[in-house]
Amino acid sequence: MELQPFDPTFDDCTWTDAWTRVPVIQLVPGEYPGFSIRTWRIDEADVCGQRVRLSHPLDVRGLVTADGRLWMSDVPQERLMMYNNAQASRGDVLVGGLGIGLYPQYAVPHIRTLTIVEQSAALVEVVEPVVRIAADAHRVPVEVITGDVEDVLRGEPVARYDTIFLDTWDTLDAAHLPTVNRLRDLAIPHLSEGGRVLLWGYVWMLRLFEEACERLLQVAPAERYSWLRVMTRQRPAVWTLLMPVVEHFAGQEIGNMDAALAWCRDYATRVTV
Ligand SMILES: C[S@@+](CC[C@H](N)C(=O)[O-])C[C@H]1O[C@@H](n2cnc3c(N)ncnc32)[C@H](O)[C@@H]1O
Repeated sequence: MELQPFDPTFDDCTWTDAWTRVPVIQLVPGEYPGFSIRTWRIDEADVCGQRVRLSHPLDVRGLVTADGRLWMSDVPQERLMMYNNAQASRGDVLVGGLGIGLYPQYAVPHIRTLTIVEQSAALVEVVEPVVRIAADAHRVPVEVITGDVEDVLRGEPVARYDTIFLDTWDTLDAAHLPTVNRLRDLAIPHLSEGGRVLLWGYVWMLRLFEEACERLLQVAPAERYSWLRVMTRQRPAVWTLLMPVVEHFAGQEIGNMDAALAWCRDYATRVTV
């Protein structure tokens, strides 16, 4: 069966404990320009909605911004999702962005080359050396470009990457879908024949959208507009995303929710900004 350039059903939350057997080089705790790296120990964790007890305590790292926000970490859920995306990767790979370098470490055993685009120069300074150690061990050439991956994707299509992995969004939120879909559409022309785009947490975000869609469609048709206005008062992006659902099902009581949600899912994989 021919592989599609993007598979919206690829679920990077699919559980496997294989990630626990792949050691990763962790960042050194301390203060860095613009952020600090903290460390703590866990013996259980939420992993994609499931509480998982670890067989051994795990030291994890968190990257905390100057205003105290936990920006990124290497907790089990992150490791599982990066591991799954890395397993699905092959050949010449383009990545946006670098993060704390988990995905590259999981990917280098089975790819040919790695090109990473990361917008934070401060992060590149700290994380690139770690990625190079892992890549050198597998003789994988690495190029790290400091910049905006969207600018790269807007450039002349090169049709040369076998895998393009994107995860420039900080959180898994259905409201990101239009932007994520736009990046996907920009990425596809850069794929070689049979290549594939992977998007961090896509199935998770689709599921969140589907849940929001279901709550909206359970409201009586005449009430949906006001309901949505109240529910999204603080979240204009969610309003914009869900208004086409109100319009599509205007005046309709939902007899077959599964069919309605299938429409919602299809819409959410196509909508862009
Ligand atoms: C969720 S983290 C990536 C985690 C990473 N995959 C890992 O394995 O650790 C998101 C990263 O994307 C970067 N980023 C955000 N927007 C970007 C953009 N437009 N272009 C390039 N990098 C971007 C952030 O600075 C951050 O390093």
